[in-house]
Amino acid sequence: MRHEKSSQDACVYDAAQVFQSGIFNHYISNTAYPINHGQTINAYRLSSYDEILATVKDSRASIDTLWLYVHIPFCEHCCAFCEYTVLRSGGAATIQKEVQSSYVDLLLKEFDLYTTALNTEKKTLIGFDIWGGTPSVLPASDVERIITKAKECFILPENVDISIETTPKIAAESPEKIAAYYVMWIRRISMGVQTINAKILALVDRVHTSIQRNKQAMQNFRNAWFQKCNIDVMYGLAGQQLEDIQATIDHIIELNPEYVTLYRTRFKGTKISHHAKEVSLDEVNKQSDLLHHALITAWYYGVPWKNTYSRIIDDPGTSHYLTQRVIYGTPYLWLGLGAQSYTIHTLSYNQWAASKQLAMYQKAIEDWCLPLQDMYNLSLPAAIGKFVSVSFYFWWINLAAFQKHFQKSLESYFANEISYVIEHWYMKYTQDCLVLTAKWTKVYNGVIALFYAPAVKKYLLDLCEKK
Ligand SMILES: C[S@@+](CC[C@H](N)C(=O)[O-])C[C@H]1O[C@@H](n2cnc3c(N)ncnc32)[C@H](O)[C@@H]1O
Repeated sequence: MRHEKSSQDACVYDAAQVFQSGIFNHYISNTAYPINHGQTINAYRLSSYDEILATVKDSRASIDTLWLYVHIPFCEHCCAFCEYTVLRSGGAATIQKEVQSSYVDLLLKEFDLYTTALNTEKKTLIGFDIWGGTPSVLPASDVERIITKAKECFILPENVDISIETTPKIAAESPEKIAAYYVMWIRRISMGVQTINAKILALVDRVHTSIQRNKQAMQNFRNAWFQKCNIDVMYGLAGQQLEDIQATIDHIIELNPEYVTLYRTRFKGTKISHHAKEVSLDEVNKQSDLLHHALITAWYYGVPWKNTYSRIIDDPGTSHYLTQRVIYGTPYLWLGLGAQSYTIHTLSYNQWAASKQLAMYQKAIEDWCLPLQDMYNLSLPAAIGKFVSVSFYFWWINLAAFQKHFQKSLESYFANEISYVIEHWYMKYTQDCLVLTAKWTKVYNGVIALFYAPAVKKYLLDLCEKK
């Protein structure tokens, strides 16, 4: 049962003003939605564990297929730009290994908790990502334990690609790990290069990567037979110049991965949040244009502002998990510290946020409880805002998926907003989607805000007034 909409979500705002508020707040007006939970969706927060458990069961009872994500919150080294859940575990290497191994034990118990609550043995996985952090810091045997458990708890067809993340350092120095992944049926591997500019790397505390390591890592992927390799590149970092971006993308094209994922730097909540004001929207737009043109010229398929570029026809380049999640809003289940799970009308977050430590997550699992810190049973506007903003990751909104989930057409729900974007030629209809036009590349942050729930629009509008 969906939650009734809150009074905040019952308001209507002028499209032109909302658009401007998105442009003005371009650092936060993006797919990382709903921006400020405490203010925008707090009305839908469930207050007791009994309510949470009942809602988890109810919202997933009729779901036969889902996407699974397992979060590994460890890295060899924490980069200053990182916005993900990573444990800054100190101590000797042996202590860190112990922490990591007991974390995997907890993860396996979390699998069991969901199996008991949801009868997962009857549910089929259509995507499976092991991400972080850096999952490849774990010994290969721990990654294998996770995959074996997933196979025990879910139906995992052979044609589903399992995807994992690594770093240039680990991939270059541990070819045996990379080879073991392929044997475990992992088929997509992703590694962050970010930039090759040594000064910028030092500024963001990522000195452990180098051109030589990137090359060796890619060689090791190929030696292990990987044919789906992705490289991450970041732009919009403070101090990044167009020449650095050009040199980085030239290097990456030379490495010849199947996919390249471009990340515009998000500063919120990172150690470099104070850099945000040093980067103008104009610079970011120029960098994005440069990267787009370099990749298109090198025969990668993609469109401006869509993160992932691919040189394989009919393959968007994202993992199976992410592709389905973005286009169809397919329910996903994340396991692990700080994990976030979703069904069309629920959003939940695992333990971590307040403490950034393992203790609460560990305690919940040892008490045989789902380790959920917050769960929201969304109203229709809030659920629509979440669905549409995630769709923007791929630059279009699938009309049939919208109709299926919300029993209304996109046009009828967003009549004013769609008139606005069509009139300004920011979006256009294709046979099955409302899609961004090339013109939107400069105004993406304004366009996406138009599809947010009223409470989130208000949050952006209020921020404009404060500044
Ligand atoms: C989950 S991270 C894993 C990175 C991998 N462990 C590594 O160190 O190369 C995936 C990617 O997110 C991107 N990323 C991390 N923090 C970001 C931020 N604050 N803004 C934008 N992109 C970010 C980076 O490009 C990174 O490679």
